[in-house]
Amino acid sequence: MRRAGDPADQMKIVVMPGDGIGPEVTIAAVRVLTRIGEIFGHAFTFEETLIGGAAIRASQAPLPKETLAAAKGADAVLLGAVGHPDFDHLPPSDRPEVGLLLLRRGLGVFANLRPARAWAGLEDAGPLKSSVLRGTDLIVVRELTGGLYYGKPRGLAADGQSAVNTMEYSRGEIERVAHVAFKLARTRRKKLVSVDKANVLEVSRLWRDVVTNVGKEYPDVALTHEFVDAAAMKLAFAPSAFDVMLTENMFGDILSDEAGAVCGSLGLLPSASLGYGAGLFEPVHGSAPDLAGKDVANPVGAILSASMLLSDGLGLRAEGAAVVAAVERTLAAGIRTTDVATPGVGTRAFTDAVVNDLGSRFP
Ligand code: IPM
Ligand code: MG
Repeated sequence: MRRAGDPADQMKIVVMPGDGIGPEVTIAAVRVLTRIGEIFGHAFTFEETLIGGAAIRASQAPLPKETLAAAKGADAVLLGAVGHPDFDHLPPSDRPEVGLLLLRRGLGVFANLRPARAWAGLEDAGPLKSSVLRGTDLIVVRELTGGLYYGKPRGLAADGQSAVNTMEYSRGEIERVAHVAFKLARTRRKKLVSVDKANVLEVSRLWRDVVTNVGKEYPDVALTHEFVDAAAMKLAFAPSAFDVMLTENMFGDILSDEAGAVCGSLGLLPSASLGYGAGLFEPVHGSAPDLAGKDVANPVGAILSASMLLSDGLGLRAEGAAVVAAVERTLAAGIRTTDVATPGVGTRAFTDAVVNDLGSRFP
């Protein structure tokens, strides 16, 4: 991957708007990246490609080979959302979501970082008392290219009377994502909770064993283990107790939605999926087709994904931090979308506010 630092260097960002609200939140993120490029003097180029339902509609596969090739040749990939009810009749193997699963595997992005925090100005947006939410600042590290999502055998029996999916992990798959989580914990409050279901599942027993062993290399990080059901409960009761939460693919999918709700809206959560090459940056929320085209989607998840793209994808830490600060000030100033405030502003107006804030800080 090319790194920033050489001002003559062009950084290529492949953009995949996808389905539902994906395109409108992606536009918001691209506007912010463009502004950052102007302010800090970076030459970002954007290349738009098809994925998910949008790709199927163009009579291709959910992940056209041109899309994967573009992603592999990019410095970073920015994705909106995939999934649409028009394709509900299709078997799992042909649905838009498969495009995303193939992309994650194709890029080898095994570690998915999903930060969730309490924002000033949104204390009362979620279901929790503000006294419970206060101080919440956690990050779910979700294993992204293994486990139940990819394990074989899988499928529906020919007679339609049974179906099977497989949860499988190798030691190596657990080790590499555990290292990412421990290293991340070192940059934070040095607390890591590994979430599993080791009282029932063999895979979880292996998970716990491997994470415990990896943890010996990080004696400065306090490691604890939690069963997934208990972790889900604690996340609702005492979210501020968590720092880094490491877990397998499916548990991470579920717990990150819960973390979104706890903080006020799933629309707030960004993610960074990292591996060996180009990273993939996408909001945690889905395509929400019922909200599409109405200018009501919350663009914060996508804008913060752009911030992670800058920091974690391109190594542009100051630029990434500038985006987070602009979002922080915008929310604190009382500018909020309708999922977290009544009355609220639209997707475009919120994005205008963030872009203007950046402009006023860095004229
Ligand atoms: C997510 C989404 C995806 C997932 C879907 C769209 C396949 O829910 O990124 O959390 O389950 O990983
Ligand atoms: Mg999900």
